[in-house]
Amino acid sequence: MSGAAPALRPFLPSDTPVLAAIFAAAVEQLTGDDYSEAQQQAWAAVADDEEAFGKNLAGELTLIATLQNAPVGFASLKGKDHIDMLYVHPGAAGQGVASALCDALEKLAGGRGAKNLTVDASDNAEPFFKKRGYVAKQRNSVTVNGEWLANTTMQKTLESGGQA
Ligand SMILES: CC(C)(COP(=O)(O)OP(=O)(O)OC[C@H]1O[C@@H](n2cnc3c(N)ncnc32)[C@H](O)[C@@H]1OP(=O)(O)O)[C@@H](O)C(=O)NCCC(=O)NCCS
Repeated sequence: MSGAAPALRPFLPSDTPVLAAIFAAAVEQLTGDDYSEAQQQAWAAVADDEEAFGKNLAGELTLIATLQNAPVGFASLKGKDHIDMLYVHPGAAGQGVASALCDALEKLAGGRGAKNLTVDASDNAEPFFKKRGYVAKQRNSVTVNGEWLANTTMQKTLESGGQA
C-alpha cells in the first residue's frame, strides 16, 4: 500500500463513461492469471452498452473512489446485503482503493440492517475477500456474453449486525 487514502463519493449518472472504462481496464489487465483471453473479452464487454451499465449502477448503491479528484475505482451494493461490483483501475491497484470501498459498503449494509454480506467473487478477487473475513460458500459458473466464467459466492458476518 502507498500514497494517500482515496476519497469516496456517490455515483452520478455522468460518471458512467469513466466507470465503464475502469471496469474494462480492470478486467483486461487484472484478471489474466485466472481467466482466458476469451473470458476476459466477454466479461469486459459487459460495459460496452454504457446505458445499461449506467442504469444498473444507478439502481444500486454505488460509491466512487477518487485520488486527486479522479475516479480510480467503484463498488456497488445491491439491496442491503450483496456486493455486486468492485473494480479498481490497474494504475491504482494495490493502494487500498478496494479496501476503502469495501469498508464503506460493509458499513452501509450494516446500516441497512444486513447481518451478512455476500459477494460472487471472481477468482482473482477471492484472496482479497478472504483476507477481509469472507468465507467461501459455493462455487458457481455463469454465462457472460456467451462465455462460461467461474466465481465463488462468499459471505461475511457483519460485526454490528444491524437492526432487524
Ligand atoms: C480485486 C480488486 C478490486 C482489488 O483492488 P485493490 O484496490 O488493488 O485492492 P487493495 O489495494 O485494497 O487490496 C487489499 C489487500 O488485498 C490484497 N489483494 C488485492 N488483490 C489481490 C489478489 N488478486 N490476490 C491476492 N491478494 C490481493 C492486497 O495485496 C492487499 O493486501 P494488504 O492489505 O496486505 O496490502 C482489483 O484487483 C480488481 O479490480 N480486479 C479486477 C476486477 C474484479 O475481479 N473485481 C471483483 C469482482 S467480484
